[in-house]
Amino acid sequence: MKIVGTPREARKIIAGFREAGESIGFVPTMGDLHQGHLSLVNMALEKCDRAVVSIFVNPKQFGPKEDYGRYPRNEEKDHAILEKIGCDLLFVPTVKDLYSTSDRTRISVRNISEHLCGLSRSGHFDGVVLVVSKLFNIIAPDMAFFGQKDAQQAVVIQRMSADLNFPIRIFLGPIVRDENGLALSSRNRYLDISEKKRAASLYKSLSEAFNMLTMGERNPDKICKRTKSIIENAGLEVEYVEIVNGKTMEAVDEVSGTIMIAVAAKLGGVRLIDNIAARIENDLVEEVLLEFPEWSGYE
Ligand code: PAF
Repeated sequence: MKIVGTPREARKIIAGFREAGESIGFVPTMGDLHQGHLSLVNMALEKCDRAVVSIFVNPKQFGPKEDYGRYPRNEEKDHAILEKIGCDLLFVPTVKDLYSTSDRTRISVRNISEHLCGLSRSGHFDGVVLVVSKLFNIIAPDMAFFGQKDAQQAVVIQRMSADLNFPIRIFLGPIVRDENGLALSSRNRYLDISEKKRAASLYKSLSEAFNMLTMGERNPDKICKRTKSIIENAGLEVEYVEIVNGKTMEAVDEVSGTIMIAVAAKLGGVRLIDNIAARIENDLVEEVLLEFPEWSGYE
């Protein structure tokens, strides 16, 4: 595995892959890799000739009171894991490598960014799409892989990518969970063992919501009320429980088509999110991954 820090070095290696006619799968990350990330790298390796991973804790997507300074960083361990799994290129730029002090360009994906996490994390998705568009420009992959856990982020990125004509197909990988059902996340490091067990109430609440759907309940308010009570009973502070349209991220009045039940809650100051996406046609309720059409970059 080659490890490079500057965009120039990354472009040089990518050009070599392209000259050899190889396809490129890209997994952007902020490091402290867990099985969720590794499942995405495996998807990239399965679908493409080369897998490229970036590790960059992006300051522009953290609010002033958020955890940028203490976000888990674990470089040596990450490098070793990626080497072992067969990653071809690891791109680890510094803040200076990606951001010039004179930059003035901002990107904003309207509407989709304003729901769910966008309400409490103002500017977060603008920071995400800014860095991802830079990374897409540098790596120029054929496919990019994101986790369903951050489904809203993936929908926002897919929109940005299509709107800016990046010829990149976006794939989502399933949420990877621990033995209690807690969705893997680098921020789980902030929780102790007993907190992790309580945090698994997010998944319990989502499973109950999904059961209600399979039993025929179609009233979003009833489902959300029950979901919220399960999380609150575990002592977490609920930020939102919503059933949203799988494309627009807007709350639905009626549960049908592809929807996502999304939850966010805080436990001892640690913010956690989780979701289940489902396709509902008449009586049939099926758990799904959100999917994006072939390349939708306005060909
Ligand atoms: O999901 C993440 O780890 C980050 O938001 C991403 C996509 C790497 C952009 O910084």
